[in-house]
Amino acid sequence: MMAIRLIFQRHLGLLLLLLLPGGWAQMCSFWETACIDPLAQTAVPLDFSPLFPDPVTFYYGFDELSTGKGRGPMTKAGFWLRYRNEGINMAVVTSNRTSEVALRIGNLTGTPSGNTNGCDGVWGRSCSGDVKSALRHAIFNLISSGEVYSKPLEAALNHMMHDHPRMPNCGAPIFDVASIPVSTFVKERYPASQPPQVKPAGSWWHPWKVWYIDGMTSDQQASQIAVGIIARSPAYGSPPPASPDDIQIELVCLQAPQGSPVTFSKGP
Ligand SMILES: *[C@@H]1O[C@H](CO)[C@@H](O)[C@H](O)[C@H]1NC(C)=O
Ligand SMILES: *[C@@H]1O[C@H](CO)[C@@H](O)[C@H](O)[C@H]1NC(C)=O
Repeated sequence: MMAIRLIFQRHLGLLLLLLLPGGWAQMCSFWETACIDPLAQTAVPLDFSPLFPDPVTFYYGFDELSTGKGRGPMTKAGFWLRYRNEGINMAVVTSNRTSEVALRIGNLTGTPSGNTNGCDGVWGRSCSGDVKSALRHAIFNLISSGEVYSKPLEAALNHMMHDHPRMPNCGAPIFDVASIPVSTFVKERYPASQPPQVKPAGSWWHPWKVWYIDGMTSDQQASQIAVGIIARSPAYGSPPPASPDDIQIELVCLQAPQGSPVTFSKGP
């Protein structure tokens, strides 16, 4: 009886996979970098006001190839945001700013919970403060330095991965990872000669970033916390803000698969 039900469920699942758009996911091979067929995926809504009055949703997923490049296991990770493209609050576009999103995976385990979009439960409230402050200072120093950049968060992260910032309330060296992929999603222009450039919302068939992690199994990656970073920073040529605190940084701690259901309500 059990076996019959199992077979039935399997076939029903297969049927649904073929019928639903999600079934297409089966057609993205592990080595294709333009799409991802996530074995596990999570989506967490977060507040990125005032630029986006409605919540934006952070998607993160991964796929696994147990044989990797013929040696050990390997995973393929991807991320993207979803939002209403027309949902930007033009009233706050008052200078040239660049919004970017990054995802950091590696050497961090725990369970997302609590404030700062789940990060306080992973490393504590004061560490969330340290990470945000370190990112704000790195971006502020970049803007003040005169160095030419087009992607402020990416440039700041490159400095931080090389020269780890002091974060006394964090146990783990958060920026000691091999790579932190970054994607730009809004370029605000002021005075507005043209509307802001907003990247179309992503999906598993148009992820914003896809990369491979060597030696990682799906079980290991499922136990890992992925840290999403969203920054809205002054574009190159803009004067630095009065204080690093004027640079908006949002953090989100994600785990795929994640137990908590996906909701689209506003707030943390
Ligand atoms: C914003 O950037 C444009 C060029 O992209 C420039 O012409 C304009 O002066 C900049 N605005 C400010 C306020 O710096
Ligand atoms: C984990 O940390 C070690 C040492 O701190 C570092 O060498 C290694 O690259 C990190 N692993 C990943 C996946 O980033």
